[in-house]
Amino acid sequence: MAVSTIKLTDTQQKCVTFQPKGDLLIQGIPGSGKSSILLARAKFLKEKNSKDTVTVLTYSNALTNYVRQLSLKMHSTPLTAKTFHQWGQEMLRYTDYPHTRLIVGDLRKDTIKYAKNIVNKYSSNVNFPQMKESKRQDIALLTFLCDEIEWIKGSGIATREEYLSIKRSGRGTDIRVLKEHRNTIYDVLEKYNELLNRDRRRQGIDGDDLARILIEKSHQIPENIKPDHILVDEAQDLNTMQIKAISKMAKKSLTIGADKGQQIYRRTFSWKQAGVDIKGSRNIFLKQTFRSTKQIIRLANHFQEQDKLYIKDEDYQKAQEPEINGKVPELKKCENREAERAHILNQVRRLRASFPNDTIGIIGFSHDNLDEIKKVLDDKGIPVYRVKDNEVDIISPGVKLITFQSSKGLEFDHVIVTDLQKGKMPYKAPSPGEDENEFLSRERKKFYVAMTRAKKTLTIVSIKEYSSFINELNSGYFHLID
Ligand SMILES: Nc1ncnc2c1ncn2[C@@H]1O[C@H](COP(=O)(O)OP(=O)(O)O)[C@@H](O)[C@H]1O
Ligand SMILES: [Mg+2]
Repeated sequence: MAVSTIKLTDTQQKCVTFQPKGDLLIQGIPGSGKSSILLARAKFLKEKNSKDTVTVLTYSNALTNYVRQLSLKMHSTPLTAKTFHQWGQEMLRYTDYPHTRLIVGDLRKDTIKYAKNIVNKYSSNVNFPQMKESKRQDIALLTFLCDEIEWIKGSGIATREEYLSIKRSGRGTDIRVLKEHRNTIYDVLEKYNELLNRDRRRQGIDGDDLARILIEKSHQIPENIKPDHILVDEAQDLNTMQIKAISKMAKKSLTIGADKGQQIYRRTFSWKQAGVDIKGSRNIFLKQTFRSTKQIIRLANHFQEQDKLYIKDEDYQKAQEPEINGKVPELKKCENREAERAHILNQVRRLRASFPNDTIGIIGFSHDNLDEIKKVLDDKGIPVYRVKDNEVDIISPGVKLITFQSSKGLEFDHVIVTDLQKGKMPYKAPSPGEDENEFLSRERKKFYVAMTRAKKTLTIVSIKEYSSFINELNSGYFHLID
């Protein structure tokens, strides 16, 4: 339903027209209208003062595209929407910071490995923590270092002393990290930073340094370049430093939409640490969902409640069951991949026949599997689109294939969640040094996110060996299909 044709509730409307000064945090369950509010507020801010600049920021490319497409469709207004990294890089061009290349992914891993090897070779007191797995020690250690460096940078830790003394939450018990280990980890971090600054082949900005550099250099960015108003969608995907940087850069107002129940990346973070003012009426919580049917939310809610870690979080709120009734979600258990593909094909055919103008989202674990499913549907002449990082039309009717991660923030009339298989969902093991419960909590949230993308019908496809999450679903809330 288009926002222009829906009637926002009083609470939603209040968020839209909230005074355009300072911070506003809108938290809410999936489908409670956070994105709709942000788009309507962006329009409101622009209309209130046409000279003001308004920028919407998100974490993922898929969501950025979606938000842009939605704004055009619903408000007929083009919107400046960017990912945090895209936007941050653009801002840095106005400063004297010498590099612009972002170092992320494999490039980052490779540079950290190089730094680790240098420390190993030349430092006098090298003490790396012992990895649990005996076979692939090196790989496990590198993964651990990459995660730890991301955490240090994302938390804004700026000195060795701070790192040595800080309590590190979210760490598992499989790796004991003592003070001497921390010293060596910090040596690697310093060497890595040096490479980013000085080594001609490796120069650049670590993705997680971008926020800190923006904060340090913000005084060099011309005032007319900084947005008057910034709106952030799915802010729980960003880390403390990124929110801080955004907050510093917004000249007049900052509006944040977030749902910690959908926090699927490793983040330790609180609004206070991020410097967001959420006193009194600046903190709104929306508990009513408009996207899904009662039957879908019931199943998703019950599943979410199995996450003992999350329901203890101060930001946890249980979703109200919506009024609107629909079909009970379906679960299909498949013996193998062939059976899974056959069921998906069947289901897509049925849905297309009954609802030719609807969107169908197929959500899966890996790009490879989604490509395979695409082939099966292509062969039968069914048009399907892969929502990767490009400009695929997400809103128009049709079949869209997307990963669990990228599905966040999006919605489809019909959702088929696949890959509910042991080793895939939940993933086979936590990263080295990661807390097992936190890991499971995040994996659960991924499945929860996927389920709550559905507006009208939800189909879950499990493949042998079945995912442990299947046993956690309340059997009174779904139909098992033969
Ligand atoms: N007050 C409302 N009345 C009817 N539908 C609404 C209302 N608010 C939001 N919606 C619809 O509910 C769905 C979910 O809204 P969205 O803004 O995507 O939620 P969120 O971002 O919180 O997940 C969208 O299809 C939207 O058009
Ligand atoms: Mg949203």
